[in-house]
Amino acid sequence: MGDGIADGRHTLLAPGLEISRIVTGMWQVADQERGGEALEPASACRAMGRYADAGLTTFDMADHYGSAEVIAGMLAACRADIQLLTKWVPEPGPASAETVAAAVDRALDRLGTDRLDLLQFHAWNYADPSWLDCLFELAEHQAAGRIRHLGLTNCDAVHLDMAVRSGVPIVSNQVCFSLLDRRAAGAITEVCRRHGVALLAYGTLAGGFLSERWLGRPEPPIDESLTWSQMKYRRFIDQVGGWDRFQGLLEVVARVAGRLNERGRFADTNPHVTSGLAEEKGAAGSTDVSVANVACRYVLEHAAVAGIIVGARLGERIHLENNLNLFRFTLDDEARRDLDEACATLDPIPGDCGDEYRRPPFLTASGDLSHHLTHLPAPYPVRLSGTARLVSTGTPWEEMAGYSRAVKRGGRIHVAGTTASHGGRVIGGRDPAAQTHFIIDKIEGSLQSLGAGLGDVVRTRVYIREGVDWEPVARAHGARFADIRPANTLVHANTIGDDLLVEIEAEAEVS
Ligand SMILES: NC(=O)c1ccc[n+]([C@@H]2O[C@H](COP(=O)([O-])OP(=O)(O)OC[C@H]3O[C@@H](n4cnc5c(N)ncnc54)[C@H](OP(=O)(O)O)[C@@H]3O)[C@@H](O)[C@H]2O)c1
Repeated sequence: MGDGIADGRHTLLAPGLEISRIVTGMWQVADQERGGEALEPASACRAMGRYADAGLTTFDMADHYGSAEVIAGMLAACRADIQLLTKWVPEPGPASAETVAAAVDRALDRLGTDRLDLLQFHAWNYADPSWLDCLFELAEHQAAGRIRHLGLTNCDAVHLDMAVRSGVPIVSNQVCFSLLDRRAAGAITEVCRRHGVALLAYGTLAGGFLSERWLGRPEPPIDESLTWSQMKYRRFIDQVGGWDRFQGLLEVVARVAGRLNERGRFADTNPHVTSGLAEEKGAAGSTDVSVANVACRYVLEHAAVAGIIVGARLGERIHLENNLNLFRFTLDDEARRDLDEACATLDPIPGDCGDEYRRPPFLTASGDLSHHLTHLPAPYPVRLSGTARLVSTGTPWEEMAGYSRAVKRGGRIHVAGTTASHGGRVIGGRDPAAQTHFIIDKIEGSLQSLGAGLGDVVRTRVYIREGVDWEPVARAHGARFADIRPANTLVHANTIGDDLLVEIEAEAEVS
């Protein structure tokens, strides 16, 4: 065990991968480069080095974070004590083995390494099973030694569970988690506990809004005068009830910070760092517990959270000294109760982790997916046959037994009895709920290919293998169809295929 683990500054994210519990986030590099000019690499590398010097040895990047990977690669070339976590956020739709290999090659090349510490994958559309194909392919690269560990980003509870049960060795999931957004404290926490997966939490400071700087300040408009991160979290603030309610939360956080300072629950100097850059003017004295510190600790203390990712604008602002306070105090029961009560006055962010990237309200910098995607391709091929449109999901059975996954004639769509088989694998392992979710994804993908959606389903029939508990299947069906309420039949049956525990057929109507 390293010293950092003993004093709580580091943690073992996965075998052989010790990370600092404050991870420095590099999305801000892309924002700093939004005008088209890359940061000067040598000085950006020096700025990054200051975090590592202070013991914050772990950095979070992605393929689309401007020149962040390149800068990190420069730093890695002169020191071996850093951990570089990156992401692959592919174009949606099928990715060939060559495309996956090219993504891994690019990250290896930019980071100047022959093995990635952690590659985190983002799925755009669970109804398109190519997200699982990408993961299976990435697992091959891991087995070949090119990736140390695999993670996900913005994955919800159902699909994290599905991926792990399908045999993908996921160690972490990077999600938004803050006083404004407590979705990660819900179902995903239980899935993480079940499978030993850690959360890496971002957005803990809501782009800096959760700090003294914004206490009592008027609401800024969402425009290009803000950082991308602020644009994103202004939308979160609107979603939880608006600026005035947010100010109510900030006041409580400031009171909690003040009380902790009065009680002197922390040491008074921090020997580990002299940043060299001025800490932010007007903020709490850097060795005082700040609003930002309380907001971060609230997330850092959550059982499933291995680390929080705090964004840094390299060479512009540094909050190092203040953020190191996080290792010098804990929240007491009173603080936690006050914060929970203040959070409860806000409207919850809808849905599960990552939904903001998949369905409205899109809580992104632009308020839509225009920074990320041009289009979402149909998950499955469709062909015309007379007046009918036929969907194929490519299973051998469709060819052998002469049927389509789905048929659309007029406004009516019939989806064939569907199981959790995919490309010669069973998705979801032997878990009936995970299989059911994948089947419903497959049905959804078939409907999407025909321009429809789950909301158009009017009838489902669910066949459960004899001897398999029906209740998890019914609950999974309930989780997906709660607001749709199709007519339903659910029976035990002697279904085909030893490992295939559930089969579902569906009918939909579109105008
Ligand atoms: N997977 C994903 O989809 C995803 C999405 C978003 C972010 N991320 C990751 O998470 C990282 C964090 O980004 P974020 O957008 O969520 O931002 P954030 O960490 O919530 O906010 C970062 C900003 O907070 C301010 N700040 C930091 N420490 C402070 C302190 N002690 N006191 C006052 N203000 C402080 C700084 O603002 P100033 O610079 O203005 O002073 C900093 O730029 C990203 O870089 C990225 O690595 C991942």
